[in-house]
Amino acid sequence: MSLTDEGHYGPKQLNLLKVVWGEGFLSPGGTAEIDEIMTGVDATGRTVLDIGCGCGGAAFHLLKKYHVKSVEGIDPEPLVIQTAKDLAIKNKLEDVTTFKQINPGPLQYADESFDMVFSKEAFLHIPDKEALLKDIHRILKPGGLIVVSDWMRKDDNPPSKQMQEYIDAEGLDMLMCSLKRYKELLEATNFTDIKIKDRNDWYLEKAKKELEEIEGPLYQKVLDVLGLEETLGAIDIWKKLIGVLEIGEHRPGHFKAIKIDS
Ligand SMILES: C[S@@+](CC[C@H](N)C(=O)[O-])C[C@H]1O[C@@H](n2cnc3c(N)ncnc32)[C@H](O)[C@@H]1O
Repeated sequence: MSLTDEGHYGPKQLNLLKVVWGEGFLSPGGTAEIDEIMTGVDATGRTVLDIGCGCGGAAFHLLKKYHVKSVEGIDPEPLVIQTAKDLAIKNKLEDVTTFKQINPGPLQYADESFDMVFSKEAFLHIPDKEALLKDIHRILKPGGLIVVSDWMRKDDNPPSKQMQEYIDAEGLDMLMCSLKRYKELLEATNFTDIKIKDRNDWYLEKAKKELEEIEGPLYQKVLDVLGLEETLGAIDIWKKLIGVLEIGEHRPGHFKAIKIDS
């Protein structure tokens, strides 16, 4: 089973996540969670690369509230990128945003191209975190920032049976590593001023509220998007998600760091 029967990030899934997480967002928490990720970050005037930008919700918030200079968003999913481009026009931000469909793999940018790399809940889809962080370090200017939120796991052992059942139900590649591993990789990649934050407690409570809403006030809207069978499937996935948050194996988290000024 997967969230919908149409593959990764297709129209039904995008519409479902719009109902549950809001327009422009394919991950939980909306602008409030982006504010949490951005705590203490001065991004004014920075050029930003958003890896796994989804439908652009974070890009628009970074431009409006944090006064970044521009955001380039990259994502392998064509419908996601088209939606981001449409929303950029709706938000009158098409002159300061670029959304590009990319092939997964090394970043196709010259050394020292950006002042900041941002990403929210996308690294879990990228298998080689070490290569990814080295590549990000390469394309950041000296003094550049990496600011990330990701779905992580409590450790780097193979997933428990319960966790594997949840991942199988999602039907997505979920190659989650631990916050500790990210910290070690950032240190090894010559980043400095590393800050990490575990968000398990927050998302456990939020996911419970999301399920209450899906089963309550949002039920009809979800039903309209998915039909009965897939609505029941989505409810089952949310229950599995809450289960792995409750046992502490699924641990969303944040990290940020600076590329040492050379
Ligand atoms: C959970 S969504 C989050 C999207 C967006 N960052 C947000 O918070 O709304 C994960 C995104 O990562 C994208 N993705 C999957 N594999 C990727 C890869 N190898 N490189 C970059 N993005 C990827 C997906 O297409 C999807 O849009």
